Amino acid sequence: MATVFVSRHPLVLHKLTQLRDQTTPPWHFRRLVRDLTQILFVEATTDLPTEPVTVHTPLAEFAGRRVAGDLAIVPILRAGLGMSEAVLELVPEASVRHLGLYRDETTHQPVTYYHKLHGKPPELALIVDPMLATGGSAVEALNLLKTWGAKTIRVLALIAAPEGVATVQRHHPDVGLYLAALDSHLNDNCYIVPGLGDAGDRQFAT
Ligand code: PRP
Ligand code: URA
Repeated sequence: MATVFVSRHPLVLHKLTQLRDQTTPPWHFRRLVRDLTQILFVEATTDLPTEPVTVHTPLAEFAGRRVAGDLAIVPILRAGLGMSEAVLELVPEASVRHLGLYRDETTHQPVTYYHKLHGKPPELALIVDPMLATGGSAVEALNLLKTWGAKTIRVLALIAAPEGVATVQRHHPDVGLYLAALDSHLNDNCYIVPGLGDAGDRQFAT
């Protein structure tokens, strides 16, 4: 079974508390999503491969390292958008592969409305979505990426429910999950409790 990493970084605890707060306005919510994603991304990629590169400082030659291999960031629309921008700030060379999925309001099953997975699959694909609730959207995204040919895939989510983690592990035991928090449970509407409400609405003021 692959990694389920739950951050204990003090800044993550601090900022996630602000993110959950219902009085946090959308502009601040978006900034917190960006900060949390960047911390989690760093925690999730400590084993990112590097290769040697030589540069010249003003004083001497320096044998340095650069990140090797290609990375695709895969935001699940629409709430994953803020997370993909945050990762792109750190790794501007990455490609972005948008996946349009939404949860049907009554069945809670994912509905795919957009994807453009063509060309050579990346060495590492990173799915980003703030919420992993039933896990249905993540499983569908993983199915699409694996059909495309992506081999190493990780999921970055800010808040997950135990039910969603179990579902992803059952369908995709090889995929590592990197979470800022693992919450208590899902309510009758399949919302994460305590969670933060609707991540898309809170980010985009809808
Ligand atoms: C939310 C969230 C995930 C999904 C998680 O998106 O951003 O994509 O629900 O739920 P699941 O684990 O039960 O599948 P939503 O369907 O609300 O779409 P939106 O981002 O467009 O608002
Ligand atoms: N989607 C959200 O935005 N929040 C939840 O709690 C569950 C799914």
